[in-house]
Amino acid sequence: MPHPNADLSYPDDLLLPFYPSIADLADRLRAALGENGTPLYVADSQIIADRYQAMAHSLQESWGPYTIGYSFKTNYGVARHRVLMDQGAWAEVVSAREYQMALDQGYPRNRIIYNGPYKDDASLQLALAGRSLLNINDFDELARVIELADAQAEVCSLGIRVTSDLPRLGLSRFGFSMDNEEAQDAVAQIRQHPQLKLCGIHTHLYGDTDDPEIYGVAAQRVGQFAQQHFADCGETLQYIDVGGGYPAHSPKPKSRDQWQPQPIDVYVAHVSRALSPFFPERDSRPTLIMEPGRYLTCDAIVLITRVVHVKQRFDKQIVVCDGSISMVPLTHYSPQVIRLYAADLSPRETRNRVATSIQGATCRENDSLYEGPFPTVHVGDLLIHFAAGAYNANLAPNFIFSVPKTVFI
Ligand SMILES: Cc1ncc(COP(=O)(O)O)c(C=O)c1O
Repeated sequence: MPHPNADLSYPDDLLLPFYPSIADLADRLRAALGENGTPLYVADSQIIADRYQAMAHSLQESWGPYTIGYSFKTNYGVARHRVLMDQGAWAEVVSAREYQMALDQGYPRNRIIYNGPYKDDASLQLALAGRSLLNINDFDELARVIELADAQAEVCSLGIRVTSDLPRLGLSRFGFSMDNEEAQDAVAQIRQHPQLKLCGIHTHLYGDTDDPEIYGVAAQRVGQFAQQHFADCGETLQYIDVGGGYPAHSPKPKSRDQWQPQPIDVYVAHVSRALSPFFPERDSRPTLIMEPGRYLTCDAIVLITRVVHVKQRFDKQIVVCDGSISMVPLTHYSPQVIRLYAADLSPRETRNRVATSIQGATCRENDSLYEGPFPTVHVGDLLIHFAAGAYNANLAPNFIFSVPKTVFI
């Protein structure tokens, strides 16, 4: 029985131009599928490079000196591939394991940004000695760094992570609060120690913060803090790192009432505009660092699964594919964009849609990938799950089936 919305376009059709073009990539996709089968994550390297370039261009235009650190935890497949390193990206890591991953990838230590609430002593030592951009998260970490710095031959540079009570987001649990004495006490402790030099300020908002005004407010608070704590002590602030969180082109997260993601230039412009009054001389500005994860990866990667079973139950088409919600766990956070293709990758979308439930191949009753109108499906068809690049593969467990491979084309 046709779904009542059968004649309408999918509301998420407008997102498709931001994702890999299946028609343009069909030959390469067929080859990748021939070699690897399904399920398979496929990454369009060109989209990742394009996103990097768009952000870089915008930072250069509206601020000046900039660095983009790719947030490794978003997708380790992308971290292991050279696409972003070749563009000039640095590594942004949040654990000793990720720090080692960046070294294994060939990032020099002074191109690794080291954040996160738990860094072990060995990795802290490597970061201090190698002049990584080390951002201290709390007083206990600072105490350990002070001890470790005493053993270093040279003065150690570091940054601090700060937070403030922001509209709609509130105060982050990470970093030193600028709204009480925490951040200023951290600055004082660092300044008292002859082996340490404070050279950076870092902050990071929640992922998928779509309102650019909030970036502006956060940047302004950081600018004020910098003015209070750097200008009058004649010390050079080398970098301001405003973290990640910039949305890609995914559907509205289920938890949000409003969802109005903007082009990347809008976020960069809000940050630059808010910081500029504190650093009016373009030539002597600190480096502005951004640490995108989802913005660089989300749009570029699809999960391809194959239909293994179809049945009609009452008035619904029940489709089972060889993927699982464990391969796209962010389905809990935001609905999937799925389209139907024949086994040869020709599109099988029709405007005639039937009520459908698409389910995964695990034995969980709730392995549910999609509910809604969908074209008639046959065993052997392919499903392309778009916007799958951010966090999904990294959060996927080896539950019943192995985590699919990621192939770059
Ligand atoms: C410190 C830090 N930087 C960057 C990111 C990347 O965030 P996103 O993927 O939302 O851009 C995160 C993610 O949580 C983070 O914790």
